[in-house]
Amino acid sequence: MKKLIKNNVSWVGKVDWELLKFHGDDYSTHKGSTYNSYLIEEEKTVLIDTVWMPFADEFVENLQKEIDLDKIDYVIANHGEVDHSGALPALMKHIPNKPIYCTANAVKSLKGQYHQDWDFHVVKTGDKLDIGNGKELVFVEMPMLHWPDSMATYLTKDNILFSNDAFGQHYATEKLFNDLVDQCELDNECIKYYANILAPFSQMLKRKLAEIISFGLPIDMIATSHGVIWRQNPMQIVEKYSKWAENYQENQISIIYETMWNGTKQLAEKIAEGIAIADKDVTVKLFNLAKKDANDIITEVFKSKTVVMGSPTVGNGVLHSVAGFAHLMKGLKFKNKKAAAFGCYGWSGEGNKVISESMKDAGFELIDEDGLKNLWNPNESAKEEAVKFGMKIAKA
Ligand code: FEO
Repeated sequence: MKKLIKNNVSWVGKVDWELLKFHGDDYSTHKGSTYNSYLIEEEKTVLIDTVWMPFADEFVENLQKEIDLDKIDYVIANHGEVDHSGALPALMKHIPNKPIYCTANAVKSLKGQYHQDWDFHVVKTGDKLDIGNGKELVFVEMPMLHWPDSMATYLTKDNILFSNDAFGQHYATEKLFNDLVDQCELDNECIKYYANILAPFSQMLKRKLAEIISFGLPIDMIATSHGVIWRQNPMQIVEKYSKWAENYQENQISIIYETMWNGTKQLAEKIAEGIAIADKDVTVKLFNLAKKDANDIITEVFKSKTVVMGSPTVGNGVLHSVAGFAHLMKGLKFKNKKAAAFGCYGWSGEGNKVISESMKDAGFELIDEDGLKNLWNPNESAKEEAVKFGMKIAKA
């Protein structure tokens, strides 16, 4: 159903309440998501983005109830990823000759995915499209936010920035606007989205935010492609992105581990005790990788100044959850964070070395090259050592 967002601009997207995983199974979406598509009905009728492929037929049927599809003059594809372009094949069957405006890279991604020769019109930053009634669309390339083909579209006079993935959240709601939803849930989903998707592109993001601000365009609304539309103080999310893009950290230390027979877990808890003794202000959190959601832990890593990683030694290495998580962190290119390793062993004891190397490789600065190693299960004196190790971490 079409929902008016401002003047002649409506939301025509899909709320996906049941979504549990996104990007295949790579990103957990505990709060579902939305695929936001927008319809502008001025002298020209414009459709901005579509929805994910499983909802393509439903999307086209709903759109047909609102308008005669032949009335659409321009289709804008801000980004080629399937969660926004997935309904294009179903839509374009009805209007095969209508022009699609997108970046040069989006032509590559759309052709590569759908193998169709639609009437692509390549746009660059600053290009404009007159849509009548004195209004224009202005295009802004947003490479690597988060694909090379991404762009944003700005609607003059209504002052709406259709930002696509940037400033979004995986958050299902019927409420449409940021001021109408639970602020705590919204904040959590925004930072999780940034930490898990946008963090590696922080340097490019900083430059792009400065460029957008330098245009001096008034922004009354930021209409993202996932989650709520920023209507109340829309620049608050831009300010948050500016802060997050600056090697973000809070006064938090996260202890992340997996354990086999609870020896490494006991060390983790004693290290936490030591951190809390040495620093009354720091927030210390423990996460067992086998029991907690990896994307939620990534959000905690993003907030942390130090990550203490633990695994027992297994097969001359570490548990695969720990190795996999280190690989995940490396891809997200976190900066300005410290790390240390710990773990129990019974025989050869290479676990700490493997963790330390992978943390260094992921861009973390090691507090201690050797970390805390314990032969067999920790006895009382080993637990004391773990407390002292925690105190050392807190002071580092
Ligand atoms: Fe929401 Fe990059 O797609």
